[in-house]
Amino acid sequence: MPHEVRGVVSVGKGKPVELAAIRVPDPGPGEALVRVQACGVCHTDLHYREGAINDDFPFLLGHEAAGTVEAVGSGVTGLEPGDYVVLAWRAPCGVCRSCRRGRPWYCFDSLNAVQRMTLLDGTPLSPALGIGAFADKTLVAAGQAVKVDPAARPEAAGLIGCGVMAGFGAAANTAGVSRGDTVAVIGCGGVGNAAIAASSLAGARKVIAVDVDGRKLEWARGFGATDVVDASSVDAVEAIKSLTDGNGADVVIEAVGRPETWKQAFFARDLAGVVVQVGVPAPDMTVELPLIELFGRGGALKSSWYGDCLPSRDFPMLIDLYLRGKLDLDGFVSETIALDQVEEAFEKMERGEVLRSVVVL
Ligand SMILES: NC(=O)c1ccc[n+]([C@@H]2O[C@H](COP(=O)([O-])OP(=O)(O)OC[C@H]3O[C@@H](n4cnc5c(N)ncnc54)[C@H](O)[C@@H]3O)[C@@H](O)[C@H]2O)c1
Ligand SMILES: [Zn+2]
Ligand SMILES: [Zn+2]
Repeated sequence: MPHEVRGVVSVGKGKPVELAAIRVPDPGPGEALVRVQACGVCHTDLHYREGAINDDFPFLLGHEAAGTVEAVGSGVTGLEPGDYVVLAWRAPCGVCRSCRRGRPWYCFDSLNAVQRMTLLDGTPLSPALGIGAFADKTLVAAGQAVKVDPAARPEAAGLIGCGVMAGFGAAANTAGVSRGDTVAVIGCGGVGNAAIAASSLAGARKVIAVDVDGRKLEWARGFGATDVVDASSVDAVEAIKSLTDGNGADVVIEAVGRPETWKQAFFARDLAGVVVQVGVPAPDMTVELPLIELFGRGGALKSSWYGDCLPSRDFPMLIDLYLRGKLDLDGFVSETIALDQVEEAFEKMERGEVLRSVVVL
């Protein structure tokens, strides 16, 4: 019997999201039905609503969620009803060319539920990042449901399902921030602040937070930034250089998703340094650079999808850090809201008032 529940649906480009009745099938082979307990509002949800990801409307938004498994389909092992899980948008398939080379954190064919969730009239929904968790229940591939310690409250735990993992992993996995490094993070929303926390935990000597919003910079200090730069009033590149003996930072993480901030990251980096782009650009954005600068500066220009994480390895680790008081997941939860307040949460995000609004169900 399919389940009729409430879900937050983005019906068309730029249109306000709507709370709609949706139909969620019982889990088929390899699938899991999850009762969502909390789901954070990520900037990527807004990118979907703006049509910046693709045109597969209607979307069922929400993808930073924790909840409990309600049912599993045939063939599912290691997951059972009652398990407390965080949902992942990467569930390595095990057989794609990347998985077969032993690099499952890049999996090119990540698993999702095969059956579609729909509106009541049968219109199929495109779940954001293959999750769709602004809903009372959602259907995922069993591998997307990662068991974590139930001692972590869902409002906090769910956040590692996207933004926190993406930022933390950009620093810890993609950049490989290590003791003694100098790090700058441009854009201190939920993602950027997680990169700051990870850099600090990894033993970075200096962690420079850059944002255009003073509130974000205050929060960044709480996550371990040693210095802050308000790029609305000073030149970010010059400021990062002057904080690093004129050299630039070993690692610069771009967590905004714009050409101008990516260029700042490029020029604020020391020789042989690493730029990691986490911010998601719109399809029409371009950058132009003298090729000699690319060559002459050496190092690496990387992008980080989901912090190059392996959810089954990294989610329990982040939850353990949280429960030991080393990673302040609660600090990302600016407010808890109801399912019908996601549109307001987007406005607050755009005004810079929150790190994360978290829907509690
Ligand atoms: N790569 C991934 O796997 C992944 C995962 C999750 C999110 N993201 C992306 O990461 C980005 C950040 O997400 P978020 O949820 O933290 O968003 P957010 O809106 O909470 O944070 C963005 C921050 O950038 C700041 N900012 C804007 N313009 C700036 C500028 N010119 N200079 C400096 N700072 C500036 C804003 O003030 C804000 O604090 C988004 O593009 C999101 O889509 C990527
Ligand atoms: Zn794969
Ligand atoms: Zn996200």
